[in-house]
Order: sequence, then C-alpha cells, then structure tokens
Amino acid sequence: MKAVYDKDFKLGVLGGGQLGRMLIQQAINWDISVYCLDPSADAPCKEIANGFTQGDFNDYDTVMSFGKDKDVLTIEIEHVNTKALHELEDEGVLVYPQAKIIDLVKDKGAQKSFYKEHGFPSSDFVLVENKSEAIRHFKKGGVVQKLRSGGYDGRGVQVLRNEASLNEAFDAPSLIEDLVDIEKELSVIVARNKKGEVKSFPVVDMEFNAEANLVEFLYAPASISLALEKEARELAERLITELGMVGLLAVELFLDKKGNILINEIAPRPHNSGHHTIEGNYSSQYAQHLRSILSMHLGDTETIKAAAMLNLLGEKGYEGPVFYEGLDQALEKQGVFVHLYGKKMTKPYRKMGHVTVLGEGLEELRSKIDEVKKVLKVKSK
Ligand SMILES: Nc1ncnc2c1ncn2[C@@H]1O[C@H](COP(=O)(O)OP(=O)(O)OP(=O)(O)O)[C@@H](O)[C@H]1O
Ligand SMILES: [Mg+2]
Repeated sequence: MKAVYDKDFKLGVLGGGQLGRMLIQQAINWDISVYCLDPSADAPCKEIANGFTQGDFNDYDTVMSFGKDKDVLTIEIEHVNTKALHELEDEGVLVYPQAKIIDLVKDKGAQKSFYKEHGFPSSDFVLVENKSEAIRHFKKGGVVQKLRSGGYDGRGVQVLRNEASLNEAFDAPSLIEDLVDIEKELSVIVARNKKGEVKSFPVVDMEFNAEANLVEFLYAPASISLALEKEARELAERLITELGMVGLLAVELFLDKKGNILINEIAPRPHNSGHHTIEGNYSSQYAQHLRSILSMHLGDTETIKAAAMLNLLGEKGYEGPVFYEGLDQALEKQGVFVHLYGKKMTKPYRKMGHVTVLGEGLEELRSKIDEVKKVLKVKSK
C-alpha cells in the first residue's frame, strides 16, 4: 500500500454528503487527498474534495471506474454497489469497511441473523416476504416491521401497534421484530484497524424527535451506570472484532426497562451520534475513521468535556434557498460550535447542519441547547 503521505495517494469516498465533508475537514489536517463520488451536483463535498465525480454510487460501472485508481476506498453511506466493491477488492484496492461487511449491513435480515448466530443480544425477529406473512406474525401489544433493505433515517421502519394498523404493513421482504420496551436509546462508536487494534468511544445517549423520526438531541457521556457503560462498550468491541471489520462502526443500542442492553442496528461509517467527538473528545470519529482505514494507530477516544449535539433540521413551513436565522447570536455563546453542511436548499426536517455544545453536566448542556434552539432556525428567504 502506498503510504498516505505519498504525494499521489488517493482516498476514495462513496458518497459526498455531510459525513464526507467532516471527514475531509480532518483529512486536510493530515494532508490526505480525498476524492468523492456522489450523484448530487450540490453535494456537501463537491467544493472541498480534491476531486469530485458526479455519479451514482449504486451503479456498477460508475463505482468500478471511480474506484480503480484509488489506493483505499471507503463509504459514507452503505447504499452502494457492493458487486463493484468485491471486484475492486479482488483487483487489490483496499476497501474499508470490506464489501462483505457493507453487504451484511445493507440487509437488516442478514444483520439480525448475524447477531443471533453469534450470540449478540438483540430483539427476537422473523423474516417475512410480503404483507400477508407480516400480518401473520403480528403479536398482541405490537411489533416493529423493517424493510430488509433500502430503509434510511427511519423510513422503512414502522411500528404495527394494533390490528387496525396492519393495513399499513409493508408488502416487501422485511423483518418483524419484537417491540422493545425502551428506557433509552444509546450508541457506541468503535473502530478497528487491520492489525486488530480496537477502541470504543464513551457511550452516547440519544433522544428522538418522534415526529421527524430522527435523533434530535444527544449527549455524551451518557447518564448510565459505570457497569452499563462498560457492558455497552465491550459489546461494541466484541461485535467489531467478530465481524472482522476494518473501519469505524456505529452500534445503535436499546437499554430496555429491565436493564438489558440490546443491539438495534449498526452503521459501518461515521455516524450522527458521533459528531460531538469533533470538539468533545481527543480523537474525533472522523480522525478515528481515517486512522482505522489507513492502518494507523487508533486515537485516544476519551472525553475532553461533556458534549451535546442538536441536529439542525429545516423548519416546518420553509422550502427553498436556505437562510440561517440567528446564526451570529448562537455563535456568541461560549462552547457553542455550529457546523453547516453547505446544502443550498432547505425543506422541512432536512438535515442542514448540527450544533455541538460543551458544558459541565447534563443540565448545563440542555439549557445551552435550548438557548441555541430558540435563536437558531433553518429557514428560507
Ligand atoms: N424493536 C424495536 N422496538 C422498539 N422501537 C424500535 C425497534 N426497532 C426500531 N425502533 C425505533 O425505530 C427507530 C428507527 O429504527 P432503525 O434504527 O432500525 O431504523 P433506521 O431507518 O435505520 O433509522 P436511522 O437511519 O435513523 O438509524 C429506532 O431508533 C427506535 O426508536
Ligand atoms: Mg437506526
């Protein structure tokens, strides 16, 4: 492998969204050249990547021709053409996370089966092919139906609470999961390099906006016991090791009302629940992602200061060229860090950026986030 400091070293990224943008911000610090492939003409990476190819990362030929002159290929979204990635691996391109890992993650059915076969705690499930099978596996009290593939940001997931809701069941290959009685949603980000070195970040507490079905507020370290913190991190570390994965893995977890930790799902890339590590931790998730896929030593994941993150979503009722109301006011406050993703157009609930705040404890974090929420709004002119 060419060393990252060789002047013609090329890191290719499938996807050119906000995760890629923050990865590039770190790559610039280490003088690593990053090339992105994304279908959108105004992708967040377009103006800051060393090279930008406009094209479909789901298309076999496009991925083959984009990947063939790269030294290392990675992803910022898992919905990519993995047939091409398998072939590029065979041709000697280093693909991290490996194509087989992306295959596993793209299929929620395969993911759940992996947990079951390898003894990882996760809610019980059955695989179904269509709506009538889904209805047959309904249980009193409710179930969760998830499309096996193609879902993202909560689309492709629905709770079937009662008999009346069964009409809405997806008519597609999906899984029917037991409804977890959720106390908290947690996340652990963990990385592994080629040598097998593994490091996890402190556990993140995630709060959902039910209406938008998106994580809206999260903070770390999570308010859980030391024993649970240890259990969650060890679970994530064991998972990435058994997967044999190289790269960064976000492990979404449920803590149920009985105190059990269950794996919900995984994402083999930087994740929304790790944005706060840019300011809050010695190594950010983006630095760690680069370190893991470029065969470097992993960085120190420990917390510098407690952090909370707020997604900046497009306000309801505004659609068009974006305008950030109150940006200057928000930035006046100590420990407030605003990240705008460079998307030109807003629409209701579109992820346009995020804000990280640093503080001494949850109360301070919450009140700072509330202040930011009051003044900073994503609108259109
Ligand atoms: N078995 C379950 N029991 C209860 N709630 C669940 C269950 N599975 C999922 N949920 C709820 O639905 C949310 C979305 O589910 P999941 O993470 O599987 O979907 P997703 O489409 O990949 O979402 P995202 O991209 O936002 O992570 C979860 O964060 C959780 O709030
Ligand atoms: Mg999820």
